[in-house]
Amino acid sequence: MSPTIHFLETVDSTNDEARRLLKNNQDFKDHIIIAESQTKGRGRLGRRWYSPPGNLYMTILKTPKISLAELSKISLIVGLSLHRVLKKYIPENHHLCLKWPNDILVNRNKLGGILVETESYSIIDDHMNDSLTCCLIGVGINLVSSPELSNYSSCNLLEFTKDVPQPDVLALEISQSLDDLIETWETKGFDSLREEWLWNAYGLGKPVSAKAENGFQIYGRFLTINKDGAVVIMDETQQEHLITSSEITYMF
Ligand code: BTN
Repeated sequence: MSPTIHFLETVDSTNDEARRLLKNNQDFKDHIIIAESQTKGRGRLGRRWYSPPGNLYMTILKTPKISLAELSKISLIVGLSLHRVLKKYIPENHHLCLKWPNDILVNRNKLGGILVETESYSIIDDHMNDSLTCCLIGVGINLVSSPELSNYSSCNLLEFTKDVPQPDVLALEISQSLDDLIETWETKGFDSLREEWLWNAYGLGKPVSAKAENGFQIYGRFLTINKDGAVVIMDETQQEHLITSSEITYMF
């Protein structure tokens, strides 16, 4: 079934608009909210997402049949969908890859990011008595411009191709690809997608640093992601550390 697309000229944040849509309609079917620009676009860890016209700002609503504990891996699944779609637009001599947990990079520069939020509802009626978790999957892709920031370097699709797709075309391609991946995730589990993620990961085996759950800064090599989607870092004493939140910094 094709999703319903909602186009907005400007909005605070497409994730906020998606939440309003859910609150008002209690409708869990596929919806995509696309805005030409955002006045309060936000990224992970409370960061601002610059949102001038011309780029893709969207939120896709999906309700995967996946347990709440497993849902934490959804950013990795969304990253894979972005990789599958965007590789059609990026020439092979440029390195399109995934940065754990939620970035897509080209040649080390950030092309886009993912911000997943959730909303749980109890559905009680004659047919169903269940709790559903709807995922508000916010995706920002730099199509024609990218911000100049001090904390990381970014890029945009126009730097790599003249055939930059219209935002709604790209949005539908991503939503379709995400449906395929969610179906695999639901039927075969995350392990069947983990290899593809690792294959496209940036910096495997390379020196990285990250903040562990106990607040300590860990330095070591980016070994892998485990079956739970956590990053495994091996320090110089061969001890393994799991990183489940925060982000990793490349040290090379
Ligand atoms: C990140 O890299 O930290 C995530 C960036 C996510 C940005 C998108 S743009 C559409 C949606 N609405 C928002 O306010 N944020 C996400």
